Amino acid sequence: MLFKQQALLRQKLFVLGSLAIGSLLYLVARVGSLDRLQPLCPIDGRFGPHSQDEIPLRALQFKRGLLHEFRKGNATKEQIRLHNLVQQLPKAIIIGVRKGGTRALLEMLNLHPSVVKASQEIHFFDNDENYAKGIEWYRKKMPFSYPHQITIEKSPAYFITEEVPERIYKMNSSIKLLIIVREPTTRAISDYTQVLEGKERKNKTYYKFEKLAIDPNTCEVNTKYKAVRTSIYTKHLERWLKYFPIEQFHIVDGDRLITEPLPELQLVEKFLNLPPRISQYNLYFNATRGFYCLRFNIVFNKCLAGSKGRIHPEVDTSVITKLRKFFHPFNQKFYQITGRTFNWP
Ligand code: A3P
Repeated sequence: MLFKQQALLRQKLFVLGSLAIGSLLYLVARVGSLDRLQPLCPIDGRFGPHSQDEIPLRALQFKRGLLHEFRKGNATKEQIRLHNLVQQLPKAIIIGVRKGGTRALLEMLNLHPSVVKASQEIHFFDNDENYAKGIEWYRKKMPFSYPHQITIEKSPAYFITEEVPERIYKMNSSIKLLIIVREPTTRAISDYTQVLEGKERKNKTYYKFEKLAIDPNTCEVNTKYKAVRTSIYTKHLERWLKYFPIEQFHIVDGDRLITEPLPELQLVEKFLNLPPRISQYNLYFNATRGFYCLRFNIVFNKCLAGSKGRIHPEVDTSVITKLRKFFHPFNQKFYQITGRTFNWP
């Protein structure tokens, strides 16, 4: 009997304890989120002087809290008015290249307190149906931001789609354009791997990379294969240069963004005339993922989805050599035009 009463008492104490801890945690979270909702606009002007030692923690908390809510559509009109938030057309676009590291670049730039990303690929300029909906449709797809912040979107199909340069030029002829590239053969294999995974998911069979990349009749590189064509960076860039001067482009080294992201991001900050606010604090290497992940503040970290960083299938070395030889002259031209040299074989 005594034993039963003691057990009952222990159970009651356990329930009460859990309730107390739960309430405490709720209060902490609530105070934190209220703090984030204060209209104190901690984000400094874009062009003001900043010391690198200033940790943009508060601004980032604010960004994660408030703007995240707005992005999800949870904000009231009153909140939007109170915080003077707007949906702005992008001042910079990551136009490609597919599998170059476009997602990582966008997410990492979004660490900057003056940058707001469009989370989805909007495909406004490359998709005729979307383009026909007009520029207001495009603007409404943008996240809410403070007027001094810049909005960035990424749609890697822009780089290779014929009509896009002219369409973007018509929207804003002084827009800044970011292109992230990787060693062309590796990029082509990454492109293939993505398509292969899609086929496997649907239980479909697919050709081997070697079969697609090399024309079996001529034994030469198959330039009709999209993954090969996309890696001829200079051909695509030349089309863009009919509309925009080279100064409006910034080339990001996608291979270096994987191994050493900070210096690459600092170059982008400079190109966008942003004060240097992304620091080593914001990036940490995750050994399990094998990639750098993002740290917004002491509580919020994130790594990219598992679809980024796939294991590539093994490719015949003679095919790799052939592709590298094929890309070589195009790469030389690309270095010459962009003024950025890579150690691609
Ligand atoms: P792989 O899957 O071939 O490794 P995109 O976003 O343009 O599709 O590019 C995907 C590539 O981004 C991945 O290619 C991966 O290597 C690269 N990447 C760069 N930084 C990364 C990061 N921090 N986390 C995951 N992937 C990253």
